[in-house]
Amino acid sequence: AKDPVRVLVTGAAGQIGYALVPMIARGIMLGPDQPVILHMLDIPPAAEALNGVKMELVDAAFPLLKGVVATTDVVEGCTGVSIAVMVGGFPRKEGMERKDVMTKNVSIYKSQASALENHAAPNCKVLVVANPANTNALILKEYAPSIPAKNITCLTRLDHNRALGQISERLNVQVSDVKNVIIWGNHSSTQYPDVNHATVKTPSGEKSVRELVQDDQWLTSEFITTVQQRGAAIIKARKLSSALSAASSACDHIHDWVLGTPEGTWVSMGVYSDGSYDVPPGLIYSFPVTCRDGEWSIVQGLSIDEYSRKKLDLSAEELSEEKALAYSCLT
Ligand code: NAI
Repeated sequence: AKDPVRVLVTGAAGQIGYALVPMIARGIMLGPDQPVILHMLDIPPAAEALNGVKMELVDAAFPLLKGVVATTDVVEGCTGVSIAVMVGGFPRKEGMERKDVMTKNVSIYKSQASALENHAAPNCKVLVVANPANTNALILKEYAPSIPAKNITCLTRLDHNRALGQISERLNVQVSDVKNVIIWGNHSSTQYPDVNHATVKTPSGEKSVRELVQDDQWLTSEFITTVQQRGAAIIKARKLSSALSAASSACDHIHDWVLGTPEGTWVSMGVYSDGSYDVPPGLIYSFPVTCRDGEWSIVQGLSIDEYSRKKLDLSAEELSEEKALAYSCLT
């Protein structure tokens, strides 16, 4: 039998945490033969609720779950973890300035970076979910210099999955037959959902999404805005932000990173830019990636038309501004 892997979830008493921890304990994230020890971290005001989640994990009697650490101590939370899913953060409240929210999150991610750097397992893989996800991940990277940059990522898989879902609904095909959409850029409304290389498996072979949709107008307007604004649409409908889809996509992200992407398939991940596709190095930016042996690599050589180029650049500009704002908040 395999040794258990310690998986940290920060913000574990929150909405996404509540959906995510049972998925991890059931083997959705790391596979049905991988035992896990869950580390759940939250802040003192949420300690009682966190303990309630721990009680429910015990009650669910998950065969793969070999232990639960529920804590408000960041060092205890980070000790020995090989996977860290960072869901905890400070939400923007009505009337708050962007800079004030950024200051709170920068300070959270700075201190959690040090705890991971000093106490996590070597080669720990980090996924930042909490917004602003790309910039929180960048701050974490800056303050955990001994963790390799390639181990620090942010979640855009939810946007990726939303794009697959929209194509599947539009074409009335199974979502599992659609692949290779791309989310470029920031996990924000400037992200660019790109279908130029996406395909659908049909009874008569693989066909391009562009060819099948036959409506460029839909692809360049409604499709893009639906994916970009899906988060807001969920809030409007549920009066709460996406949680089950965010949790499920976080599992997909780690699952594919650790266990690999299927041959011929790529996924979207926010990763540290190496300058591919002329995206400025030094930003955490969402790219198409394939994963093998626990490492991602950016898919190279895809053609980028003029329309797409502008969208890639626009999101990079927004991320550069966020980075500058984050740095101005560092104390
Ligand atoms: P929530 O407010 O229900 O839960 C957040 C939890 O984080 C709370 O329990 C809170 O006490 C905790 N927390 C706050 N500061 C903390 C700290 N310093 N250390 C540990 N825990 C801390 O929020 P929800 O709905 O679970 O969302 C979490 C985050 O995920 C939000 O920032 C949200 O914007 C983001 N999100 C990102 C998505 C993505 O695709 N990247 C999708 C959906 C949400």
